[in-house]
Amino acid sequence: MDELKKIKEEVLACRKCPLSRYRKENGYCPVIGEGSHSADIIFIGEAPGLNEAKTGRPFCGAAGRVLDELLASIGIERGDIYITNLLKDRPPENRNPKPEEIEACTPYLDKQIKAIKPKVVCTLGNFSTSYIFEKYGLKDEIRGISKIKGRMFKTDSFVLIPLYHPAVAVYNANMKEALKRDFKILKKFLS
Ligand code: URA
Repeated sequence: MDELKKIKEEVLACRKCPLSRYRKENGYCPVIGEGSHSADIIFIGEAPGLNEAKTGRPFCGAAGRVLDELLASIGIERGDIYITNLLKDRPPENRNPKPEEIEACTPYLDKQIKAIKPKVVCTLGNFSTSYIFEKYGLKDEIRGISKIKGRMFKTDSFVLIPLYHPAVAVYNANMKEALKRDFKILKKFLS
């Protein structure tokens, strides 16, 4: 079976944290990821929101519309990249991920990255940035996202680019312009 399909089956069967029960009680879907299985660029958000949990698609609400605009500003379509999240299930009331949820869920993200073998990993916001920095040997470089966003960090496996989470620009045009400037760094990886 295709590795990414296998990961989907594993997430569907996962009982490692209470978010899977919350998903079932509410008739939600897990949000595994979407896009090209051979993408050069992976985007990693935080966790599904309500729209995502209802549809099973990452970034399909307000933050997703900002993300689409940012991608379009540098000529990328969703089908060219892969988009996923740190957590595959929606936390109640969109609260922050808990450490034990991150621990339970990130083996799926690790496997997604291994299967896709991207050249570039873009983390969106503090939670996915901290996780990937620590996982890939950059623990000492971890700062608040405003300090490191839009910069390139080399790991043994890929170039890592932390970015603001698109949700910061949902109601703030200034932040959208800042994000657009940061996204330009990705242009050099487009063939
Ligand atoms: N915010 C995220 O971090 N991920 C989504 O999929 C949607 C909103």
